[in-house]
Amino acid sequence: MVVTGLTPKNVEGVSLVEKTCFSTPWSLESFRNDLTNENAVYFCLEDGDKVIGYVGMWESFGEGNINNIAILPQYRRQGYAKLLLEHLISYGKEHNLTFLTLEVRESNEGARALYQKMGFSQVGVRKKYYERTEDAILMTLHF
Ligand SMILES: CC(C)(COP(=O)(O)OP(=O)(O)OC[C@H]1O[C@@H](n2cnc3c(N)ncnc32)[C@H](O)[C@@H]1OP(=O)(O)O)[C@@H](O)C(=O)NCCC(=O)NCCS
Repeated sequence: MVVTGLTPKNVEGVSLVEKTCFSTPWSLESFRNDLTNENAVYFCLEDGDKVIGYVGMWESFGEGNINNIAILPQYRRQGYAKLLLEHLISYGKEHNLTFLTLEVRESNEGARALYQKMGFSQVGVRKKYYERTEDAILMTLHF
């Protein structure tokens, strides 16, 4: 397993992970836009030529907003998301970010457990944020 950034070579693999893991995935075009977005920070996990997971964040004004994290189903519960978040947290510390923040579906217990394990705390709720139906839980890790 190798951890890399987002590159023209792995961007389609990242998009494939996204399509496999989410019902309303980001488009390939959105990921391509991030190739030239100097505020975008990605850590991607590659098993040979295959992208098996990624985490993506936008950095602005010293804050890191995590857009998504996903691991292909057959590679889950092996510590890979934890590994990617460790890279992101190290990046945040090295770049003097104030905090990392994210939104997660209330029903996504696995992801919420992961973030909690990594030191994120619940700081708020956005009512009916997803499809005007499901609440988003806001979670933040302060440095
Ligand atoms: C959420 C997700 C990224 C976790 O990836 P993963 O590689 O399986 O997570 P890890 O193996 O690094 O898990 C680390 C810890 O997080 C917690 N955790 C992860 N998935 C969990 C689950 N499904 N249920 C309960 N706890 C979970 C556990 O504490 C786990 O440690 P343990 O395995 O020693 O108990 C993965 O399930 C996924 O891609 N889901 C679909 C996309 C998604 O929902 N992304 C989050 C959007 S906000």
